[in-house]
This record gives sequence, C-alpha cells and structure tokens, in this order.
Amino acid sequence: MSTYPISTLHEEAAGLYLEGVSLATLAEQYGTPTYVYSREALTVAFNAYQAALKGHRARIFYAVKSNSNLAVLNLFSRLGAGFDIVSGGELARVLAAGGDAGVVVFSGVGKSEAEMRQALRAGIRCFNVESAAELNRLAAIASDMGKIAPIALRVNPDVDPKTHPYISTGLRSNKFGVAFDEALTLYRRAATLPGLRISGIACHIGSQLLDPAPIAEAADKILGLVDQLAGEGIPLDHIDLGGGLGIRYKDETPPTPAEYLAPLLARFAGRSEEISLEPGRSLIGNAGLLLTRIEYLKPGSEKNFAVVDAAMNDLARPALYDAFHEVVTVSRSDTATQRYEIVGPICESGDFLAHDRELAAAPGDLLALLSAGAYGMTMSSNYNTRPRAAEVMVDGTRTWLIREREQIADLYRGEHMMNAD
Ligand code: LLP
Repeated sequence: MSTYPISTLHEEAAGLYLEGVSLATLAEQYGTPTYVYSREALTVAFNAYQAALKGHRARIFYAVKSNSNLAVLNLFSRLGAGFDIVSGGELARVLAAGGDAGVVVFSGVGKSEAEMRQALRAGIRCFNVESAAELNRLAAIASDMGKIAPIALRVNPDVDPKTHPYISTGLRSNKFGVAFDEALTLYRRAATLPGLRISGIACHIGSQLLDPAPIAEAADKILGLVDQLAGEGIPLDHIDLGGGLGIRYKDETPPTPAEYLAPLLARFAGRSEEISLEPGRSLIGNAGLLLTRIEYLKPGSEKNFAVVDAAMNDLARPALYDAFHEVVTVSRSDTATQRYEIVGPICESGDFLAHDRELAAAPGDLLALLSAGAYGMTMSSNYNTRPRAAEVMVDGTRTWLIREREQIADLYRGEHMMNAD
C-alpha cells in the first residue's frame, strides 16, 4: 500500500515510480512540465464504484470536465462509463474517443442553441435542464428538428455540502438548477410541451465532499419530489445524484465509494428508478500527478523560493482555491532540507503551486505535485504564452504520450495582424 494519495506511486532505490515507470526516466523522455496518469489507479477507482453499485440499477457518468483527454475518456468508456458533459466541445471529445452518445448526459446552465442541436443530432441520453427558459428553448429546437429531447430537471435541493464556496453548487444562492419549490410546476409544464420526454431528475450539490450526510439529505428531498411527481402521473425513470465525492490531497479521510453510496442505496431499496452518478475527481484526481523540474533555488531573508518550470497556467487550483497538492522530490537528495515556496515563472504573485514545504532539493531536481489528475490539465491556460504541458499515461512498464506538448507556434495560430494601412 502506497503512503501517497496516489496508490500506484511508490519509492524505489532509483527514485519515485508510477506503476512500473521511473518518473526520472519519464521526464528525460517527455520533458517537463508533464501530467502523468496511472491507468491502474483510474481503473481501481472506477471499479470501486462498480463494485459498490453491483446488483443495483445504476450507471456512472464520468464528469468529462475533470479530465477530458481522449485516452482517459476512451479508458473510461471501455470500463463501461457513460459521460456527463457541459459543452458541445466535451460531446465532440466523447465521440472522438469512441464514446457512445446514448450514454451522455448534458449538464450546464448555458446550453446554446447550437449545442442543443448538436446533442439532439448525436442522440444523447438526457439533457439536465437548469431553467424554465432553457426548457422552452429545448422544446422549440427539438420540435423544429422533429426530435424528442429526453430531459431531467436539475433541481437545486438547497443543502449545504460543507465544501469550498467556489465548488458548492446546491445552495439556493448558487446559479445552478431549478429552485426546489419551482420544480413541480416546471415538471407539469414540461409535460405539456412538445418535443420533450420527461426521463428523470438530477441534482449536484458540490465537489470534494468528505461527508456523505449532505448528499443523503439531498436524496431525501429529491425522492420526496419524485414520489409527488409519480402521484401526478409523471413517473421518472432515473435519478441523477451528480458527482462530488472528495479525495485525499493531504490528510483528508474521504469515504470510500461504498461508504458514500451506502446511505443512498439504502434509500433506493425497493425503488425501480435507475440511480445515476456523475463523479469526476474521485475517478481521476488521484490517478495523476504533475511532473516539474526546479529551475532555480532562490533563498531569501523571509522565504526561500523554489522556482519550477510548471506554473499556475498548468495547475490553477492552488492560485484559484488555495488548494493543497502534496509536493514530493522524485529522487532522494543529500542537500539540506529547507522550507520552500514552490512557485512558477509567471509574472504574478499568485503564481504559486505550494506554500512552505520542506524539501531537500537542488536546481535541476524533479518534483511531483500529487493528486493532480482532476481539474489540472482541463483548467490549464496559455497565460504568459506558455505552451500547455504534455500528458502521458503509464500502463505497467509502458508509457503512452496521450497529448503532445504544445508548440509555441500553436499559440498564435489563428491570430492576424491588421493591414499596414
Ligand atoms: N456533475 C456536475 C453537474 C458538476 O458540476 C460537477 C463538477 C461534477 C458532476 C463532477 O464533480 P466531482 O465528482 O468532480 O466533484 N475546478 C474545481 C471543481 C469544480 C467542480 C465543478 N463541477 C476544483 O478544481 O476543485
């Protein structure tokens, strides 16, 4: 058992290994910064959900936004996942990765007309509709195309997920979903609109949840509504409880999928609806790390800085949420241990990856930022005209370059100067 949050990461005499691959060798081969993922770790994470759901009418819709690399999507598809998407771009990725539109659910408050048409043409499984205005638009477009749009209303259950305010989504004050009190009226209305087929109900209360109680509370509210709807002759076929299960970054002790799901499955006993889930972070977060090299050490009177070749454009979570990612040296060094601010080359004081970490490291050494598989690469940018990192999948002793490092010229392709006059 690994002592790291990434179960397939371990130490050998030659330094850190992910599965059977030395991170130092990997850095030589692919350069840095590079995101590295473990096929085994993501498979184990997915299978833990599958095992917990065995014997139940249930399906997992992997949240594409957490990591949308085609190889990752393809692996999850082969494991039997459906997909939760939030844009036409994500739908295109799922299809390009060999995924089946029939197991795609489409969430998000701002679906454009073009995205609705694209999803209807592809034949997705369900639109998670987030407002009355969206419902009207979807009914009109589906009718115009001669199609029937399967829908669920995303209902905001108004429970506090007790997580970071930027990633809690199920409170009344959030922009997400239809207010709980308005859901019934909107379902009645949906039942009268052309071009729609009412299929289910959805909610998602937040991310990095470490306590199963809030989602169980949300489920109680949702199930009450489902029964009320059935009483009115609007039966539902599936109940989507969203994603949100947290992971260990530092010393958190999140429930296992089985522990998280137990109170939910108990509530579904004897019911016929399918339970749908949209996990992202808990499937891929601890299957990935960001490999970076120290450019300079910069001792100071107040703080010592380790300037690395990855930056906030590669991993935005520390700057954006003050998120913690464990930082480990890839090889043992005999230099003295110091406390460092781990910072990138970007011209912003907010460009930090970690604060106040004890490291024995020298310039040129490699560091790994752990638990970076989810919301790492997908939130990266080109700020400071920095090419985005490469991505590599490790599979036993083999490695696959699953995304090439961007080239500088890629960054201004499509830009044009004005005419000289
Ligand atoms: N379903 C819906 C409708 C969502 O909005 C989300 C995440 C998920 C599923 C997946 O949640 P997960 O299982 O990954 O917690 N960028 C932030 C996280 C934002 C989450 C947004 N919605 C971070 O880096 O922590």
